[in-house]
Amino acid sequence: MKTTVALGLLLTAGPLMLAQTGNTVNLQIKADQVTAHMPPTFHGLMTEEINYAFEGGLYAELIRNRSFKETVPARANRQNPDQSTPAKETKDLAHWSLVQERGGAGSMALDTAAPLNPAVPASLKLTISQVSGEQRVGVANDGFWGIPVRPNTTYKAMFYAKGAGYAGGITASIMSNDGATAAATAQVAKLGDGWQKYELSLKTGNVKASADYKFVLSANRPGTVWFGFVSLFPPTYKNRVNGFRPDTMELLAAMKPQFLRFPGGNYLEGNTFDTRFNFKNTIGPIEERPGHFDDAWGYWSSDGMGLLEYLNWCDDLNMEPVLAVFAGYSLRGQKVKPGPELDVFVKEAIEEIEYVSGDATTTWGARRAKDGHPAPFKLRYVEVGNEDNFDREKGSYDGRFTAFYDAIKAKYPALQVIATTDVTSRTPDVVDEHYYRGSDDMALNANAFDSRQRGGRGAAAPPKVFVGEWATRVGAPTPNLEAAIADAANMAGLERNADIVMMNCYAPLFVNVNPGAMQWTTDLIGYDTMTAYGSPAYWAQQMFASHVADSVLNIAASGLPYREYVQPARGGRGGAPGQQQAAPAANALVPPTPMPRAMPDMFFSATKDSGAVYVNIVNRSAVPQQVHIALSGLKSIAPNGKTITLSSASTNDTNSITDPHKVEPVTADVSGLGPDFTRTVPASSITILEIKGN
Ligand code: AHR
Repeated sequence: MKTTVALGLLLTAGPLMLAQTGNTVNLQIKADQVTAHMPPTFHGLMTEEINYAFEGGLYAELIRNRSFKETVPARANRQNPDQSTPAKETKDLAHWSLVQERGGAGSMALDTAAPLNPAVPASLKLTISQVSGEQRVGVANDGFWGIPVRPNTTYKAMFYAKGAGYAGGITASIMSNDGATAAATAQVAKLGDGWQKYELSLKTGNVKASADYKFVLSANRPGTVWFGFVSLFPPTYKNRVNGFRPDTMELLAAMKPQFLRFPGGNYLEGNTFDTRFNFKNTIGPIEERPGHFDDAWGYWSSDGMGLLEYLNWCDDLNMEPVLAVFAGYSLRGQKVKPGPELDVFVKEAIEEIEYVSGDATTTWGARRAKDGHPAPFKLRYVEVGNEDNFDREKGSYDGRFTAFYDAIKAKYPALQVIATTDVTSRTPDVVDEHYYRGSDDMALNANAFDSRQRGGRGAAAPPKVFVGEWATRVGAPTPNLEAAIADAANMAGLERNADIVMMNCYAPLFVNVNPGAMQWTTDLIGYDTMTAYGSPAYWAQQMFASHVADSVLNIAASGLPYREYVQPARGGRGGAPGQQQAAPAANALVPPTPMPRAMPDMFFSATKDSGAVYVNIVNRSAVPQQVHIALSGLKSIAPNGKTITLSSASTNDTNSITDPHKVEPVTADVSGLGPDFTRTVPASSITILEIKGN
């Protein structure tokens, strides 16, 4: 038996009915009734340094610990358990090792005398006591889970070195881990006595692609040399200097993202003020950036992925920046009240905005021009903080938000200011809402915006919503088909409510699937050192973002299949175990006894432009469903169209680094379309029906 409901009422309590087949779901789409216009910022990306998203991820740098500050992991390092203090001795130094081969001999040490610059307080000193002929003495970097070698590829090495009295040269090699084969080499014939920058090209031949390589700088004479900073880049997306990994950028480009929310997330806030994202430390020449310990997620950030790189990323993919500024509150609760202490951060935010959007006559716009980007970036959105609902002191965020809001609006009246939780003392332009859920919870809430009050929730509430982080958390490291289908249910709800939901982005975006790299399970795109893949949830995002038109259409469904909803046991955030979770409020109620409820198993939305209608049909039920579509309000409808379908044999099916294409959308031609037609969608599937007409 099936039931009949208007989409906006899907969640009203009713008799419990389970998924069935055999009946027809009726869908009425009124193409002449436009309920919303899709905002030009609807589909975007959220990003931060988590799961080695940039270090060993999108940011293409291959040398790990290029300024010799990162220490060996906390567990192995009792002297420096929080790893925030730079390495002092080579026993603490992570990812560098001494090379002594075929009888060559030497030693390496960290040397704090006469370093390259204040950002790199220690240089790596190599003392060569014995080397000749085939012998090798040098320093090796093991990269981010290896150095990726590809055939016929040119790598760009850059390093600072000096050689007080050293008579020899330096060989740079991309060397197999067993030291037997160099995939590419290049030489500096003679080192100068003072710090000098050396740049080399290393070209591989017809080698087998592999990550089983390291980068070696070796010497050919006895003596002493110092290295101040070492970098190695493979080819980057659009050949950008200090740029991005092409395979992940191509996956992102296919998502057609309209904005980028950065730099966090928890990464923006840090555990303390000292470890927040401080934009001033992330700009300028890479060898002058101090880097910082990303204590929000527990690893070192070189800050090679700095403010200008986020903006360049926006340029590369034609995205609008949505800049989150630090709001005087850190994850461990360190915070300041409005007044002189907060003013420091308000001023910093204004300067950061100027760096992004000021012209070259402004102080910080001039700095950006000096850094290589004379043209200002178009900036329309600034978010104040991140998840400030975690600051439970009454009025605290309100006060902090007000200080930022007033200062931003005074200098940049056109900027839209986003609050991270409800505030009352000012009316933000947009409020950012985050939700991480299990699949039943995501589906249960998928229609929630249908009944959200229009025009604001109370006098001071803003009219617009930014869903700045959301995900169905089923699957690790990346979501499976079950998660993707619940995500699609959510996206249909967001799309139907595009009159109030103006932006949304999934989080987290990236996970490096190498051992030890993941801090947060269920991430959209996975990669290792060599390759990257999109999860089923990635494909759901890609499908929705690539098949959407300007006008959101009136849509109503009847005869829906239902299933029983059982509230999951309380666990980590979004039901995923072992993840951080907001501490329950002091007055939190004991969770209610699980209550079975009926929840719909199908979800829909439709959009239209001058030539096509896109109908999204999400079927969570375990059986195929017949859908009768009544499409009114068009003058003509072509009988032939297309379907794009994501489904698989099991909802547990997923993509992985070893099986990257298991669950991917399939496009098919369809016929028999018109004002009245019936189609059957597969069990557990996402279908987009593209109908030509006007
Ligand atoms: O997306 C992972 C984390 O979830 C973000 O850093 C934070 O904003 C949220 O709690």
